[in-house]
Amino acid sequence: MTGSEPAVRPARPFFSSGPCAKRPGWTPEALSGALLGRSHRSKPGKAKLKQAIDRTRDLLGIPSDYRIGIVPASDTGAVEMAMWSMLGAKPVDAFAWESFGEDWVTDVVKQLKLKDARVLKAGYGEIPDLRAADPRHDIVFLWNGTTSGVRVPDGDWIAKDREGLTICDATSAAFAMDLPWDKLDVTTFSWQKALGGEAAHGMLVLSPRAVARLESYTPPWPLPKIFRLTKGGKIVDGIFEGETINTPSMLALEDYLDALTWAEGVGGLKALIARADANLGVVSRWVRECGWADFLAKEQGTRSNTSVCLKIIDPWFAGQNADAQANLAKIVASLLEKEGVAFDAGSYRSAPPGLRIWCGATVERSDLEALMPWLDWAWDKAKS
Ligand SMILES: Cc1ncc(COP(=O)(O)O)c(C=O)c1O
Repeated sequence: MTGSEPAVRPARPFFSSGPCAKRPGWTPEALSGALLGRSHRSKPGKAKLKQAIDRTRDLLGIPSDYRIGIVPASDTGAVEMAMWSMLGAKPVDAFAWESFGEDWVTDVVKQLKLKDARVLKAGYGEIPDLRAADPRHDIVFLWNGTTSGVRVPDGDWIAKDREGLTICDATSAAFAMDLPWDKLDVTTFSWQKALGGEAAHGMLVLSPRAVARLESYTPPWPLPKIFRLTKGGKIVDGIFEGETINTPSMLALEDYLDALTWAEGVGGLKALIARADANLGVVSRWVRECGWADFLAKEQGTRSNTSVCLKIIDPWFAGQNADAQANLAKIVASLLEKEGVAFDAGSYRSAPPGLRIWCGATVERSDLEALMPWLDWAWDKAKS
């Protein structure tokens, strides 16, 4: 590899895994129709919130008998509200293979202190044996491990006739991967991920079985207002019609609506998945040739097409101690940032040292193609 700078730079060097790149062509003008200074409970306010719910349903193909709510505190709020409201009724199988899965295991084991919990874990780059899930249990898992780039390959391991609920954190999967709605009882995601929206709000998607759990089970612990989905033993329908629990950001809402418009315009979910797959293809081709990096995800079928995580496999790197390895990976990411060719491309703080490059649909393939030679350039420079 030569040490000289590649000729082309990515036009949009935004490869962060959250908040993710805005959609191509985005400018603040996209927010000009926001209902600012008005109540979210006004007629037009509620209509916009309802529109976000309806258009999410259409875009993602969410069944008409599933409820979709806009909830506070982004994906974390949505996952925790579900766990605090529904867990404890049955034994729980909690899967973890990277940092966010570990967070939900902590909630299950240390915060909710559920006695009847099994924790099924794998290390970075791997995935636990999903078929170990007991269909009589509730199952907590992520569709895509954002910090390791390891995704669930499919939903075949989830029993159709399960007795427990599946609670799936799909924040870095929604809008980039096919989600089998018949296998998912609770699905969550945030606005700040695959469509490049703004943070603050989460989406909570509930199957009829999840609603039945909410209406038949009262957890033994107190629930703060921000988590309460039922009143008098009945689901609060309004939450799923755009009557949010507390005040949402109408600016973030407008931005989400703009992202939906873009997603619909490029051809809907199929096209979004195709864009992410093509982006992953660019990185895959480069990985095959580069000689110093490889996917952190060991099995090809588990490789994420959004949060693409790379490890360094240069033999010289393998001979360095852990601190030196971490430092080298940081140098690579900071060189890319300083050059203005890739922002936020370092691996997650608790993941093995390497790179993480967001490949979701809002990233243009041409920008990834332009970035690849810069990875070689940065590695050469860091090494020397
Ligand atoms: C899989 C997963 N779960 C949860 C979160 C937390 O999301 P938020 O910060 O939007 O609550 C993230 C954020 O990156 C994530 O990737």
